[in-house]
Amino acid sequence: QEANAIQMERTFIAIKPDGVQRGLISEIIARFECKGFKLVAIKLVVPSKSFAQKHYHDLKERPFFNGLCNFLSSGPVLAMVWEGEGVIRYGRKLIGATDPSKSEPGTIRGDLAIVVGRNIIHGSDGPETAKDEISLWFKPEELSNYTSNQEKWVY
Ligand code: PPS
Repeated sequence: QEANAIQMERTFIAIKPDGVQRGLISEIIARFECKGFKLVAIKLVVPSKSFAQKHYHDLKERPFFNGLCNFLSSGPVLAMVWEGEGVIRYGRKLIGATDPSKSEPGTIRGDLAIVVGRNIIHGSDGPETAKDEISLWFKPEELSNYTSNQEKWVY
């Protein structure tokens, strides 16, 4: 199949401070990479509290909003953009249910986390949020446009 005939999409994925501190970066990246998705941007950043509030702006009425923003800004976060057919929805599937006590085994949270406040990873929940989150975390020139040799075998 022609790779450029495929509807490519991009999603924002972040390994939160707990995932970074627990040494889970390589394990998590491997799952996206082995699936066949393509990494188009990556950086390690410590977000400020106000940046975290922007990222989670949809949740500002929630009781856990403040704690969640403090947590995200408590240490390095690995921010990434992954590309591929269906990556927004399937990325969420790889990640698993929000609450790790309900995530299926085989998912990232199901295999690697226990409680919702320390669920190690974030992924955009739809095309609109993916677009917003990618542009919040990355400048356009930080997204690389390369052809992966794997694509002709993945698609
Ligand atoms: S929603 O709007 O109910 O669907 O929210 P949901 O997608 O489940 O969660 C949105 C983000 O809030 C985090 N979350 C929590 N953090 C701390 N404590 C509690 N109780 C809690 N509940 C939800 C959840 O992990 C989501 O953050 P991200 O970073 O996207 O995982």
